[in-house]
This record gives sequence, structure tokens and C-alpha cells, in this order.
Amino acid sequence: MKPKRMLITSALPYANGPLHIGHLVEYVQTDIYVRFLKSKGIKAVYVCADDTHGTPIELNAKKLGVSPEELIAKYYDEHKKDFDDFHINFDSFYSTNSEENRKFADHIFNTLKQKGLIYQKDIELTYCEHCKRFLPDRFVKGTCPKCGKEDQYGDVCEHCNATYKPIDLIDPYCVVCKNSPSRKISNHYFFKLSDFSADLKKWILGNKNLQQEMKNFVINWIDSGLEDWNISRDGPYFGFKIPGEENKYYYVWLDAPIGYIASTENYCKMHGNKESVDDYWKSKDCEIAHFIGKDIVYFHFLFWPAVLMASGFNLPSNIVVHGFLTVKKEKMSKSRGALLSAREYLDLLDPEYLRFYYASALTHKINDVDLDFDDFSDKANNEFVANIANFCYRVLSFINKNFDSKLGKLPKDEELIVELNSKAKEIEKYYEAIEIRDALKQILAYSSIGNKYFQDNAPWKQIKEGEVGKEKAHKVVTLAANIVKNISVIAAPILPNFCARIQKQLGLSDLQWKDIGFDLEQQSINEAEIVVHKIDDIKKILDGNKFPLDLRVAKIDIVQDHPSADKLFVLQIDLGDEKRQLVAGLRDFYKKEQLEGKKVVIVANLKPVKLRGYESQGMLLAAEKMIDGKELVTVLEAKKSKPGDQVIIEGYKPNKEQVLYDDFAKVVFEIKDGHVYTKGKMLKTVKEAIHADIEDGAMVR
Ligand code: 2FM
Ligand code: ZN
Repeated sequence: MKPKRMLITSALPYANGPLHIGHLVEYVQTDIYVRFLKSKGIKAVYVCADDTHGTPIELNAKKLGVSPEELIAKYYDEHKKDFDDFHINFDSFYSTNSEENRKFADHIFNTLKQKGLIYQKDIELTYCEHCKRFLPDRFVKGTCPKCGKEDQYGDVCEHCNATYKPIDLIDPYCVVCKNSPSRKISNHYFFKLSDFSADLKKWILGNKNLQQEMKNFVINWIDSGLEDWNISRDGPYFGFKIPGEENKYYYVWLDAPIGYIASTENYCKMHGNKESVDDYWKSKDCEIAHFIGKDIVYFHFLFWPAVLMASGFNLPSNIVVHGFLTVKKEKMSKSRGALLSAREYLDLLDPEYLRFYYASALTHKINDVDLDFDDFSDKANNEFVANIANFCYRVLSFINKNFDSKLGKLPKDEELIVELNSKAKEIEKYYEAIEIRDALKQILAYSSIGNKYFQDNAPWKQIKEGEVGKEKAHKVVTLAANIVKNISVIAAPILPNFCARIQKQLGLSDLQWKDIGFDLEQQSINEAEIVVHKIDDIKKILDGNKFPLDLRVAKIDIVQDHPSADKLFVLQIDLGDEKRQLVAGLRDFYKKEQLEGKKVVIVANLKPVKLRGYESQGMLLAAEKMIDGKELVTVLEAKKSKPGDQVIIEGYKPNKEQVLYDDFAKVVFEIKDGHVYTKGKMLKTVKEAIHADIEDGAMVR
């Protein structure tokens, strides 16, 4: 029995940075599934939103000198455009910073409170006196209380995997100002998650759609005891204020999933309120499915269902969990910085190559998806283009040329038709089971059968064999045209743009799953055109990438104290063919004579700014790290290079246009063994690797 409605969601991306191709794994997976459901005639609604609240967004906006609203508006526009260009077909892409979301968040909070499921309690938290704020997990670092490794975040040690609270850290320091925080008592709201252990367990065990692996995992968590959940945060915070409170806000993870509901309301409004949120979130006729990454399982299998149970909304019927994107089997973290942004990818390559590639790897399991650009190029060329696209073009252009664009009669070639129809059924089953890799395998097999049929019958020979031969050929290409049409339906969830264009060439549009079959005959088609091309040289394409900064070697000629800022030096530098002035905050770390004569690395394309009255025509790069509670700073050096030498990042062209500090701040550098990396590449000049005399893990600024 199929439900009357389905509501499908993907996780809400943070409105705090650009999307990268790792994010796209999930959106492509969900989009393929939703497109398939729609093709099957199911009323499926795909909603998403930007996740806009929390400390990182608030602090980032502050750093950039804009309001949080301005920051999230900028990313909303960027995200929306990226999704559109990747053909991610949301029915509503909304924002958690919306009135609808506030309304539902308040409603849910009040309901839980009335039911006695929320209580208040004093807790001790890490507080930075200097920044005047409580420090969340990621804003306090220190030494791991278990293994003693320095520089670990406040929630988990990346070295020994221990989890703990920020107040457990040894020698903690504030990530923002580096001062050591104190502890402070604050009153917080807790949701009684522990009350839901039995109900959650029953729900998980009774749900036949959930992945078994996930079930085992989550049941284990429940069995080891659930802790109540702190759903409030102290200001300053960007989020919704808790009703009746002066300076307390909902924790971002409370209102984020509520964004699914708010986005549903937005969808209903967009369609004249013919349906309501209740039709999706309270009716028996609707099934809800969430697609998420394996990093946010806790929230979606425990907190969120408990909140839904408690406030009278439908529970999801399915939660589909996927793995991460790895690149050549290496885990991609933002700090490695080697991931292309969605926009960088779009500037280089057709989005449907990536959809195709991800489809070829996506299963219903929680496996990671590995991206290897050589494999990517092979798949695009040998499968998408050579098997599918060439077949379509060959058949249709043959009909254009030899039969005046007209189809003839369909042959009664039972066997082939039976075989293809059963393949289409198989593909349908795979899509239904969200086994996209297998669906694509069978689509390729389907297309191969078409190719073989065309090749074996050789209509280009048949047409030379008189009227009878020509008639035979006409039948062959008519059947082949039907295969093309069917491909344009079965592959459409994965390759929506390609398939729409093939349908147009056939003189058709918006074909649905029910249109699969053999029925096209005696009609005219349009002019065939080539829709996708082979990728020539993937390495060259990727190498054409631009690196946003123009990093160059500069020699420091003269160092002077800034007359009115006791942390700043004013430097006169030699850039080879020009001299410039820089202002640098190095006075606490270097004596003048230590800097004079040094060959350092500067950002040469930063828009000049005045720092306390002195113009800085660029920025000097330094690495910094807290060691034993002391801040160490060291400049990046290139001793054997000449002033003006380009710092090279393999595969990237330096941008020679002016950029703002904001653009610089987005670039992530990593220090390893005294060398500096960005985008996974070591910084070097033609003569040597850039040197940073500091421990691993230091930050470049
Ligand atoms: O982990 C993340 O990127 C979150 N922004 C996902 C939120 S999904 C939903 F629950 F809101
Ligand atoms: Zn601080």
C-alpha cells in the first residue's frame, strides 16, 4: 500500500559557509529518490532549509563585521543557487530563522513544558571573562583529561577519542581570545530524554524500514542509558529567545529539525494553503523520511523522535543514513581543505557527471562514498557518455538523417521487449529500496542491450538493401527510439537534465514511470543533438583551479614600531619589482632585528587597509599555537627564495585580483612537519618548501 503523501527531507546545511561536494552526496541521494517517487506518481514533497542558528554563525558574523542576518542571507542565496545548479529539486528550501520556525519551536517547547517534560537546573559551565560568554564545546580547547594530548576540543579528544565536558579539560583556553576561562553557574532547561527510553526502543525495533546497522547502534545507546538533554544556551547567541527569558535561547539543535516542519508550512503556503502542515505531520496518510549523514544519527534517532512523540507529531517512517565522502579513501575534513566547493566544481565540470558518479557508488548501506577523479572521468566517459549518451544520439541522428525524422512501425520483437520490460521492473525495485548503485548498473545494462540491438542489426547496412532492407531498418530504429525513450525515464532521477533534453529531441516531455514501454511509432522526432561530451583531461581541468590568494615571498627591509599600537610593527618590504608597507601584529613575538632581512610569505592581493592610521598593503603570514598556555607565533619563511617569488600550490593558479580579508579567512592552512599545506598541497616556491618552525596543528593567520 502506498501512502497518500510522502515528506522527504535532507539535513539542513549550516548557513555558515559554502556547500562543498561532500555535502552533495546526501542531496543527490535524496533528490534521486524523490524524483523516482514523483515519477511513480506518488505525491512526494522534498523539503529542506538552511540551518541558521548557533554560536559559530554568531561569531563568524562578528568576525566579518556583518549581522548574523546578513551572513545567513548571503549563504541562503549561495546555497539556493548551488542546489539549483546541481538540479536538486526541493519543493521548499527555507530557513530556520523564519517566523514559521519560531512558531513551531515555541509551540513544541511550551507543549513539552506543560507536560512536565522540561525542567530547569543549575550547571557549571566554562565561561570566558574576556569574551564575556559561555564557551560551547568547540570554543574551548585544552589538554585531554584522559590521554594528556594538548589542544583538544571541549567535547572529544581527537587523539584518544575520549568524550568529556569542557570543564574537564586541563589548562583550558578560549579559542577566540586564548585567555584561560573560568567556571560559572548557569540555569538551563533540560528535556527529559531519559523518560523516552522504552518508547524509543519500541519504535526503533518495530520500524522495518530502518537500516539494521543503525538499529543495533542506537539500541546500544539506549541500553547504556540516555541522559537528559540541555536545550538552552546563554546569550550572546544567534537563535530564538526562550519565552519569558532575558538572555537564554533555544539550542540550535532544538530548532534545527523543527525547520523540517517550518519548511513544510512554507511549501503549503507556496501552494495556496490547499494542504496544511497537519496533512504531513499529523495525518496517518503521510510517511516521513529523513536522509542524514552518519554524524548526526544521535539527534535524528533519539532527540528528534522523542520531541515528536512528546509534542504529538508523526514520527519518521524512515531515516536513511549515509556515509561520508572520502577522496581516494582519505577522510575529508574541512581542515584538510582539499574538498572542492560546489561552486568550484560547477565552474569546472557538468553537475550530471557528479550525480552519475555518486549514483554509481550510493547504496542503502552506511558506507563512505569514495571520490577518485580518474575513476570519475572513466565513469563519465565510458558509461554515461559512451554507453548512454552516444546510444541516444546515434539512434536519433540516424532517424533524422535516413528517415526524415520519422518513426516507422514497431517490430513485434517480443523477446527483446520482454527482456527490457523485466529489466525496467528490476530498476524500479532498486530505486524503491534506495539501492541507487544497483539501479544505475541495470540502467547501463538496459542501454547496453539497446546498443547491441542497434549494432547487431546494423541498420546502416540494411538501408542499402533495397525497399525490404530499408523497411527492416526503419523498424529497428523505431524500436531503438523506444529504448531511448525508456532510458530517458529510467535514468531521469539520476540525470534529470540529460533526460529532459533527450525527451525534447523525441518531441516529448515530462515522461513518468508509467510511460515506460513500447508504444512510440509513426511519429516525428526533433533534431538530435549531443548533450554531453567526454571529459578530455580531468587532471588539466582540475588544475585550472584558481587559488584565491596570491602568495609571494617578500624580504623584510625595515622594521619600526607602530607609534600608537603597542602590538604592531610597521614593515617596509621588498617584493622584487616593488616595495610595500605592511602592518603586522608581531611585536609581542619578535625583536625588530630578528625580523629584518627575513624572507617571509605575504598575501599580495589583499585590498590595502589602514591599521591604526598606517596602510598595510598586504598581509604577512604567521603560524600560531598555544603551547603550555603560551601563545607561540612564528612567521612562514622561504630562506632560499628571491623576493617576489610566487608561492606555488600545485594544481592551482594564483588569483591576481584583489580580495578582501573575508576571502583570506576562508582559506584553510595546515601545518605538518614544519611545512604548510592547503587544499592538501604543500606550499612551495620553485626553490624550496615554505617553512614554519612550529608544531603540527598550528593555525596560520
Ligand atoms: O550537521 C549539520 O550540518 C546540521 N546543520 C544538520 C541539521 S539537520 C536537522 F536536524 F536540522
Ligand atoms: Zn575569550
